[in-house]
Amino acid sequence: MTAHVPVLADVLLAELRLDPGAVALDGTLGGGGHAQLLLDAVGPDGRVVALDRDIGAVEAGRIRFAGRPVDVVHANFDAMRGVLDSLNRSAVDAIVLDVGLSSDQLADASRGFSYESTGELDLRFDTSVGEPAWRRLERMPERELADLIFALGEERYSRRIARTIVEERRRAPIRTADHLARLVRRSVRRTPGLKIDPATRTFQALRIAVNDELGALERALRAAPDCLKPGGRIAVISFHSLEDRIVKNAFRQDPRYNVLTKKPIRPIEAESRRNPRSRSARLRIARHHVGTTESAAGR
Ligand SMILES: C[S@@+](CC[C@H](N)C(=O)[O-])C[C@H]1O[C@@H](n2cnc3c(N)ncnc32)[C@H](O)[C@@H]1O
Repeated sequence: MTAHVPVLADVLLAELRLDPGAVALDGTLGGGGHAQLLLDAVGPDGRVVALDRDIGAVEAGRIRFAGRPVDVVHANFDAMRGVLDSLNRSAVDAIVLDVGLSSDQLADASRGFSYESTGELDLRFDTSVGEPAWRRLERMPERELADLIFALGEERYSRRIARTIVEERRRAPIRTADHLARLVRRSVRRTPGLKIDPATRTFQALRIAVNDELGALERALRAAPDCLKPGGRIAVISFHSLEDRIVKNAFRQDPRYNVLTKKPIRPIEAESRRNPRSRSARLRIARHHVGTTESAAGR
């Protein structure tokens, strides 16, 4: 059973305007919350193609959606064109990307996503490719580590954190999430009133790096127009400013997109209270080039 609550579900669904019989691609299956909503919207004559890089999410999705019109595929969403080709589909009516981390991944102590976990600091969505985060920590020069934490975590104490990591690894390998979190907390001055854990930005930076999350998002946004029917819609939910900037720029600069959200849609107060994970969510929607200037929900 998934612990993940889909964010911005009502507005997302309203803006995608899916008719019964439509085909939707969910690039980030996760706990299957959005996929279920898409499936309900397209009905028994429609189809949902659902991808995830995490084999655990894919296996759970295959069980959950068995016998339903859903294709669950283990793939990076940047490969969506190839996935549709392999399913003999030329284009879809809607694409949803809800990027980042699911609550199920956060709760899995063996993967290191949670700062308290004593499990290995892995941080990969797909553990069959690339290298775990602890290996990077082991081999990266201090300067490079500091630059990474600064650029991808927007962490102002990046130099101090990198120095502490390098000093510590001379003494003992940093293999677990809680070990890294303790080191970061030691290097960072707590900002009074700031609710997030001081380790948040460093973990974010490492996770984005080991998964090449920004690269995957850029490639997916370049691929998406070739996967959408004319007039088809794409909705992207992101959780921090680096991702949101990529979405904003791709939608603005690529002439194949017609932007429907001038500003990102944020969760209303009630949703943020109900589901704290949704607090930083930003939703942007675009349509595959049809020359009108309609804007989503008057935003
Ligand atoms: C925020 S969760 C999605 C939750 C889902 N929308 C739901 O309602 O349950 C993000 C999911 O996307 C997956 N993911 C992240 N980057 C990906 C990528 N480049 N390709 C495919 N899946 C990706 C993660 O493994 C994770 O399961």
